[in-house]
Amino acid sequence: MTILASGSGSNLAAIINAVDKGFIPNTQISLVISNKKDAYALVRAKNAGISTLYAKKSDFADNEEFDKYIVKKLRDAQVDIVILAGYLRILTLPLLESYKNRILNIHPSLLPDFGGKGMYGMKVHEAVIKSGVSTSGCSVHLVNEEIDGGRVLSQISVPIMPEDTPESLAAKVLKEEHTLYPKVIREFISDLKL
Ligand code: GRF
Repeated sequence: MTILASGSGSNLAAIINAVDKGFIPNTQISLVISNKKDAYALVRAKNAGISTLYAKKSDFADNEEFDKYIVKKLRDAQVDIVILAGYLRILTLPLLESYKNRILNIHPSLLPDFGGKGMYGMKVHEAVIKSGVSTSGCSVHLVNEEIDGGRVLSQISVPIMPEDTPESLAAKVLKEEHTLYPKVIREFISDLKL
C-alpha cells in the first residue's frame, strides 16, 4: 500500500505502527508520498525506513499530469491500495480510475455531515461547533470523484461537551482516527484478500 499525506502524519504513524505490530497483516507500506516538502509525515516515514517521494504540483502542467506521475510511481512500487491520510489535494481521474475502489480517506466528521468542498482540517471542527450538534466523529470512506462522497466504510462517534472548542474537538476526533483507520484498513485488505 501507499500513504499520501500533506501534514503532520499522525494517522500515518498509527498505520505504520499497526503494520509493524502485525495488526494489519499481509501488507507493507512501500511508499509515502507528499505534495508538501516540509510535511512531517515524510520525516516519520523516513524514520520508519519507508521510501518517500515529494512531488511538487508546480512541476506539472495541470492536476491530471500530476496525478499521472503519481500513478506511474505507484505502479513502479507495485502499490495495490492507496491510503489518503491528511492529503490536501483533490484526486483527478487518472488516479481515481487507476485505483478504483482501492482508495481510502479519513475525514474528521460523521459524513455525510460536514463534508464536501472546502471542508477540511479545522474548518470542519469550526463548522461542527458552530452548528450546535452534540456529536461529531470521524469517517473512513472510499474515494471517488465526489469530494467526501464515496461509500462510508466505518465511523466512530465523539460526544461534544458544552466547553468544547474546535481545537479540543479536533484533538478528541484525531485520537479516534488513530483507532479507526488501522481497523478499517485491516478489514479492507482482508476483504480484498490481497
Ligand atoms: C485528520 O484530521 C484527517 O481526518 C484529515 O486530515 C487530518 C490529518 O492529520 N483528513 P494527520 O496528518 O494524520 O495528523
